[in-house]
Amino acid sequence: MNAFDLKGKTVLVTGASSGLGRQTAVTASEYGARVIITGRHAVRLDETWHMLQGEGHLQLLADLTIQSDIDRLVAALPVLDGLVHSTGISELSPARFITKDIIASTFRISFDASVLLTAAILGKRKLTKGNSSIVFISSISTRYPFVGGAMYISAKAALEAYARVLALELASRGTRVNCVAPAFVRTPMLEETAANFSREAVDKIEERQLLGLGDPVDVANVIVFYLADASRWVSATNLILGGG
Ligand SMILES: NC(=O)c1ccc[n+]([C@@H]2O[C@H](COP(=O)([O-])OP(=O)(O)OC[C@H]3O[C@@H](n4cnc5c(N)ncnc54)[C@H](OP(=O)(O)O)[C@@H]3O)[C@@H](O)[C@H]2O)c1
Repeated sequence: MNAFDLKGKTVLVTGASSGLGRQTAVTASEYGARVIITGRHAVRLDETWHMLQGEGHLQLLADLTIQSDIDRLVAALPVLDGLVHSTGISELSPARFITKDIIASTFRISFDASVLLTAAILGKRKLTKGNSSIVFISSISTRYPFVGGAMYISAKAALEAYARVLALELASRGTRVNCVAPAFVRTPMLEETAANFSREAVDKIEERQLLGLGDPVDVANVIVFYLADASRWVSATNLILGGG
């Protein structure tokens, strides 16, 4: 078997109804994985499901800010070889407008959801011991911040710290834990950011990024590497995508 393919592996992808999660699910299926996709929006999740290659895939609706949804999702899961966390929102708030509610709502989806889902999956023994992989999508903005991003970036930085501890805790059971930290990629989230700033601001971002704007497949291909046996000696990394 080619060390870069995913034949025989079962992978859960969150945020699979859109953007990077959708593309990761599709690319993983092209590399032979059985993919379980989850998201909130039934129509968009079903669109992803129809884009998957191969057979045996599952789609499960869940709002990952609701504990009972997490529990229901985990109960329905088969044992996984891989887990990709791709949920997120891009709420921007200048520092002087930050409230308790904004902190809570940003962290609820950008941090708590991934941490609580991981805890439930580990607690219910739904992740293979030996040669399994967890991938978090952070952001290049933890190194190169942008104005208005204090809460988004803080939640991502917390996720990166959590991932390093998780890598330590899970190494002995054979689970690798890694983050990818993309620069701006063309997804619906970028469109939302463009609407909050302006098209000119996005054009400037594109000029500033070493390798320009990314396409979702540029992120998905790297995540497939982290899920595949090719990365079996790679853990606790945080890979910048797009060149900084
Ligand atoms: N796009 C970029 O330029 C970029 C750069 C760096 C990092 N990232 C990170 O990459 C990840 C994916 O971003 P994206 O660009 O693909 O965004 P996106 O297209 O807006 O997709 C976000 C996904 O998160 C899901 N989601 C949001 N709230 C949820 C909730 N409460 N429960 C369950 N699912 C929920 C959405 O599901 P529904 O649509 O079903 O609600 C959707 O599938 C995010 O963590 C983002 O911060 C993105």
